[in-house]
Amino acid sequence: MEKPLNGKVALVTGGSRGIGLAVARSLGRLGAKLSLCSRHAEKLESAAAELQGEGARVVVTAADVTRSSDIGKLVQKTEQSLGAIDVLVNNAGIGYFGPFQGAAESDWDAVLDTNLKAVFLLGKAVAPGMIERRSGHIINIASLAGKNAFAGGGIYCASKWGLLGLTECMAEDLRQYGIRVSAICPGTVATDFSPHAGKDVRKMLQAEDIAHAVEAIVTQSPQSFISEILLRPTQKP
Ligand SMILES: NC(=O)c1ccc[n+]([C@@H]2O[C@H](COP(=O)([O-])OP(=O)(O)OC[C@H]3O[C@@H](n4cnc5c(N)ncnc54)[C@H](OP(=O)(O)O)[C@@H]3O)[C@@H](O)[C@H]2O)c1
Repeated sequence: MEKPLNGKVALVTGGSRGIGLAVARSLGRLGAKLSLCSRHAEKLESAAAELQGEGARVVVTAADVTRSSDIGKLVQKTEQSLGAIDVLVNNAGIGYFGPFQGAAESDWDAVLDTNLKAVFLLGKAVAPGMIERRSGHIINIASLAGKNAFAGGGIYCASKWGLLGLTECMAEDLRQYGIRVSAICPGTVATDFSPHAGKDVRKMLQAEDIAHAVEAIVTQSPQSFISEILLRPTQKP
């Protein structure tokens, strides 16, 4: 049966668990060949086994997206094993939650390098090929924390606020080549990312809700693009 992403290659960073794994599952069901990365090989291998069990072709790479040398190897391995990258999902992310005045410089660097610099580096790595082919999707998993300030959110909010700015500028740089750059801004999602003490997990957004938004973006007809999606739970958890 013809699927919308048959023959296409999708690279999902932070694909070993949580939102990234759910996104990979959805893209695999749409027919894409999958390349996943995260820093820990073991978790990646079990994610790959699950996705292969569903019939997807999967390669995994232990890579730290804050390191440009790792990104080079990741992109090269993906292209050699699966082909040119059609869909890049910049999902890998970390949080820091606490008053900014108590944070260390290394906390700032870790969050900004992972949530923001890595998107710049990965974008640079895939854009030339996409420009040549006059097509491609770059989907950045941002956050409502990129729009709403809250106490203790300074470093994380700064990274996601910056990511939204970068996303809009990347979209403007690349739309003329038929490349669509989009941001998804979820509220709190029921993953291991942050503690959910006092919240009703059943009312929270699920990783699959974000995957559904990714599906909507990659199945949009070529003359238009969804530039930003804000996702909230129906009921406050
Ligand atoms: N969960 C939420 O409430 C929520 C809400 C809005 C937005 N988001 C955003 O959604 C994205 C995914 O979040 P999630 O909830 O799925 O988090 P998660 O369950 O903690 O998963 C994060 C993923 O990123 C990987 N990762 C982290 N640092 C990395 C690095 N330097 N290099 C490569 N991979 C790295 C992790 O694997 P390793 O640790 O093995 O590297 C893991 O696969 C993040 O960008 C987050 O900011 C989350």
